[in-house]
Order: sequence, then structure tokens, then C-alpha cells
Amino acid sequence: MKKHLVAPSLLAANFSRLEDDIKVVNESNADWFHVDIMDGHFVPNISFGPMIVEAIKRKAERPLDVHLMISQPERYIERFRDAGADVITVHYEACPHLHRTIQQIKETGAKAGVALNPHTPVHLLKDIIEDLDLVLIMSVNPGFGGQKFIYNSLLKIREVKDMLVSRNAKALIEVDGGVGLQNAQKILEAGVDVLVAGSSVFKSDNPSQAIQQLKDIGHEVGKMV
Ligand code: DX5
Ligand code: ZN
Repeated sequence: MKKHLVAPSLLAANFSRLEDDIKVVNESNADWFHVDIMDGHFVPNISFGPMIVEAIKRKAERPLDVHLMISQPERYIERFRDAGADVITVHYEACPHLHRTIQQIKETGAKAGVALNPHTPVHLLKDIIEDLDLVLIMSVNPGFGGQKFIYNSLLKIREVKDMLVSRNAKALIEVDGGVGLQNAQKILEAGVDVLVAGSSVFKSDNPSQAIQQLKDIGHEVGKMV
């Protein structure tokens, strides 16, 4: 089994001491920081903008995986790239000219991702899949951390996997929402490459251990030879 990536979501961090939580990730085996941008329009919640992303970038020692839950994301792509985003993901539902928006992200030098809300079918990506670096399957309705994983997402992950294989396309599959130790194995078996985890990391008693446990899934531990 190919080793998966773990991207702790800073949405669940303690914002009054963000640096401490960033440090936990820096000192762990986590692969990326997942950074959620919400505008109060595309989703019913507001998080933060490029100025905070810039501040995170100064402390973060891993790539920033920036998830734009905003309307008209094409207006802000360069801003978030300048702020330090390494991966920029836009929502299918927010992009009437998705092909153009993907090219715009790539022109900045960032990796380009597309996120699908729980009700958006995977087949809609058919004509763009080869252009993508990442497909994000939302396993909750975007806007809030701490929600329950929607199990239909497993079917969608398999569908993306099949599409990638049949097209010989290379995008990574990321899952976001309600991910934790209780379901991570099943999610990885469905074909996911990147696990985003907010509450299950930062609301746990031991965030470093939670990250390590998510990293260890799928590993054969204690094997002698
Ligand atoms: C939800 C965000 C997620 C969120 C996940 O809209 O996109 O990244 O932080 O949080 P948990 O892991 O708590 O469901
Ligand atoms: Zn997210």
C-alpha cells in the first residue's frame, strides 16, 4: 500500500495560540497543513483570509494546502499564492469557468485542486480530471469542523479512483470532513491519498499522537522479517 499523507486542518486549532498548534504539526510526521478559507457566502461561516495565511506560512514547516470555500475564487488566487499557498483547491460549485480557473492556479506555480460537495457527482470531473493535481471529496457539508463523516463519500472516492486509473491521470485524492481513527482505514482502502483531519487531531488530548496514529494506519507494525 502506497503511503498516504496526513494534513491536519488548522480550523480546529486554538487561534489564540496558533503558533503552538503549528509547532505540534512541525514536530510531527504530518505532511501538509490544511488551511480552510470561508467567506460567509459560499459557506455559512467565515474563517480568515490571506493575511492570516501569510502569518501561518512564516511558522509552518510543511506545504500549505489551501482549501478555498469561497465564491468567485478566481478573484483571490494570486493573493493566496503570494501568501504562501502550495496547493490551491477551489470548489466545483463555485466555478462556472473551472478549466480557466485551474489554469490560473497553475500559472501561479501552485498545485491545482477541485473540491466536490457531498451532493456533486464525480462524473462531472470527467473532462477536466487530467488537468488536476488533486481531487478533494468533501465528506461533510463544508463550513464547519466537527461534523459526522458522510458514508456515501466512500463510493465517490472509489469512483474518482476508477476515473483516474481509466484515464491514466495522476491527481491525488483527498478527503475532508469527519475523518478520524475510527474510519481512516476504510477511507484509505477506498483509494484516498490525503487524509484531512481537524477535530480528530486538535480536539484530542494528544494531537501529536493523533497525527502519528493517522500516519501509521495501513502500516504493518511489529513485523519481524
Ligand atoms: C470543513 C473544512 C474541513 C474541516 C474538517 O468545511 O473544509 O477542512 O476543518 O474538520 P473535521 O476534521 O473536524 O471534520
Ligand atoms: Zn477543508
